[in-house]
Amino acid sequence: MTKNDRANFGSKIGVILASAGSAVGLGNIWRFPFETGNHGGAAFILIYLGCVIALGIPIMIAEFLIGRRSRANTAGAYRLLSPGTQWKWVGRLGVLSGFLIYSFYSVVAGWTLEYIVQAVSGGLSGQSTEGFISTFNTFVSNPWRPALWTIAFVLLTHIIIVRGVERGIERSSKILMPLLFILLLVLACCSISLPNAGEGVRFLLQPDFSKVDSKVLLGAMGQAFFSLSLGMGCLCTYASYFRSDTKLPRTACNVAVIDTLVAILAGFIIFPAAFSVGIRPDSGPSLLFITLPNVFQQAFGALPLLAMLLSLLFYVLLALAALTSTISLHEVGTAYLHEEFNFSRKKAATLVTTCCVVLGILCSLSLGVGSHLTLFGMTLFDLFDFVTAKIMMPAGGLFIALFAGWYLDKQIIWEEISNHGTLKVHIYRVLLIGLKYVAPIGITLVFLDQLHVFG
Ligand code: PHE
Repeated sequence: MTKNDRANFGSKIGVILASAGSAVGLGNIWRFPFETGNHGGAAFILIYLGCVIALGIPIMIAEFLIGRRSRANTAGAYRLLSPGTQWKWVGRLGVLSGFLIYSFYSVVAGWTLEYIVQAVSGGLSGQSTEGFISTFNTFVSNPWRPALWTIAFVLLTHIIIVRGVERGIERSSKILMPLLFILLLVLACCSISLPNAGEGVRFLLQPDFSKVDSKVLLGAMGQAFFSLSLGMGCLCTYASYFRSDTKLPRTACNVAVIDTLVAILAGFIIFPAAFSVGIRPDSGPSLLFITLPNVFQQAFGALPLLAMLLSLLFYVLLALAALTSTISLHEVGTAYLHEEFNFSRKKAATLVTTCCVVLGILCSLSLGVGSHLTLFGMTLFDLFDFVTAKIMMPAGGLFIALFAGWYLDKQIIWEEISNHGTLKVHIYRVLLIGLKYVAPIGITLVFLDQLHVFG
């Protein structure tokens, strides 16, 4: 395929929204709250913010410039920019991470479809907190339903992917993101006004650094990579469709800000409500799905129709936010197979879909009938989450930083971030220090800390 055959993101706002659409998803609204709950609250959030600024933004700019410079899929990008070297493995590692993330991510995305149906059929109204907990547990341990929803979600993504980059991804992101943001804001206000919500707000705002250990550090770093879609070639692939006048540093900052705001907002929805109705903050992956129905019930119980409509709107938007992320996950593998193996786009997409349907079903079953089958004490679902977010993505980020900071010609970096000298770039030096030293040393220290090198 020649350069000119490749699609482009049409408008400027489309670029930001598509990248933000990849970043904002279940990672912010489902994963961020439960990781925050598991790791003690405010201190985790502060470390998370530090990771977004010190690691996330520089690595995102690096992915953008690698993608746009090469105009290729993530494995092709390294091959083109460093011919004959082993750097191509960074891209391939990213493609593999993409498959694994897509597989467990689509399970949770499938849950959102179930909750849409529940919201419409009235299954989420009039229950006690225990009722919501048991509804969720019964659902996820059912062998069929969640697996079928997983398949449905992957197929939905497939349809959009085969329709092409510009039409599918861009058009959907443009309308949905702002709507989701407004609804989250409304829900956060509702949650904060519930009785005894103050304890949840304190949980989010009063850090207790005595509880910070190596798990908290790894958790926060992993969450930053997961939430920003970093370290696995996703944003690199998207950047290969960016126009040549897209401002890379500014786009990266916008995406990081939007993504972080959504995550924090989700925290302000989940924790005040969880503390208010007595749900433990460390309930794990079920946290969003058992807390949120309570918010609708408590805040709008007197107006059942409004409660129903708002919960329906929420789950629809959540599913769509997940969809803009699965589209980007799918695109990594599709672009790779299409360009590196000369498969047609349709065939490439079908291969990705088939693999992820199989792995997705296995992940879904691992939460029910297969829950006794564990590896390193984790179900397949938890294992995929752990290995990708806490090992592969930060490791990918480490290599991307090393590649851009040490290997790549500085002229290329300068040209890409300044759009060939047409932009004033104040952050060039800071970016280089971030990529050369801060990110590689920071990520390595967190990894070494895991191995208890520091006692
Ligand atoms: N960042 C997405 C989210 O927060 C998940 C994702 C990870 C998407 C990696 C693409 C690549 O939901």
